[in-house]
Amino acid sequence: MENELLLLQIRELRKAFGEQKVLDGIDLGVKKGETLTILGRSGSGKSVLLKLIIGLQRPDSGSIRIGDAEVTRMAGDQLDEIRKKIGFLFQYSALYDSLSVEENVAFPLRRHTRMPDHEREERVRELLARVGMESAAAKMPGEISGGMKKRVGLARALAMEPDLMLMDEPTAGLDPLTAAEIIDLILELQRARSMSSVVVTHEMQTVRAVSDRIAMLDEGRIRVEGAFEALKHSRDSLVAAFVKQGIEGEPCHA
Ligand SMILES: Nc1ncnc2c1ncn2[C@@H]1O[C@H](COP(=O)(O)OP(=O)(O)OP(=O)(O)O)[C@@H](O)[C@H]1O
Ligand SMILES: [Mg+2]
Repeated sequence: MENELLLLQIRELRKAFGEQKVLDGIDLGVKKGETLTILGRSGSGKSVLLKLIIGLQRPDSGSIRIGDAEVTRMAGDQLDEIRKKIGFLFQYSALYDSLSVEENVAFPLRRHTRMPDHEREERVRELLARVGMESAAAKMPGEISGGMKKRVGLARALAMEPDLMLMDEPTAGLDPLTAAEIIDLILELQRARSMSSVVVTHEMQTVRAVSDRIAMLDEGRIRVEGAFEALKHSRDSLVAAFVKQGIEGEPCHA
């Protein structure tokens, strides 16, 4: 892959917690407009990988480049600056419990811009409309369902119009219809703005719908990488186990 086309480039990334080597030499690239899906067992380091990309955790060694910026060397204001261009949908939505839905979505705009109040309010309304949550604007996170929280998390992650979107389990724990709605939303966003994404999920419905490419994380390394069709025919036992589970879980059209 040509380096200049890569929006995100990860090289030789390592992270251990004590004796436990969670990531042990990861190389990955994501092109502009591309969606890379990370698969892997529970505890394989998927969430850690996303947190390293956004600088919430520090790697032990290796490089993470977003555009021309080396995230691993950044701190303070620089990190703040690069985070403006990255949207993060956390595994458990991570809304601020003491802030209303609209205040949650407004948060990044308050923090990173000097937008006048009326402009910000308008923008928050637009974002909530985009995820179908206008009517819940004044609610508190404790008063809405898990699927609604994901939507609000998505709206908040999109507030700064990111070039790169990181989504940790965007559809986990949702019923199939709500999951399908979130998937449609993600696809719409991919089409509308050639945004690059890294999506962590083990839901095959989501993997299939959103991925341009898939990377399987196992024992700290990328075990297999390729398009969904290629992985479907993989003889690798772990890949087969993931993909097969997904296909068996689908409605039968035979
Ligand atoms: N801050 C931390 N301190 C110590 N260990 C950690 C920390 N964060 C993660 N780990 C460990 O790193 C490993 C990978 O965690 P991670 O959350 O990335 O897994 P995951 O692949 O996202 O799993 P899941 O699918 O269950 O979300 C786990 O063994 C976890 O206990
Ligand atoms: Mg995780």
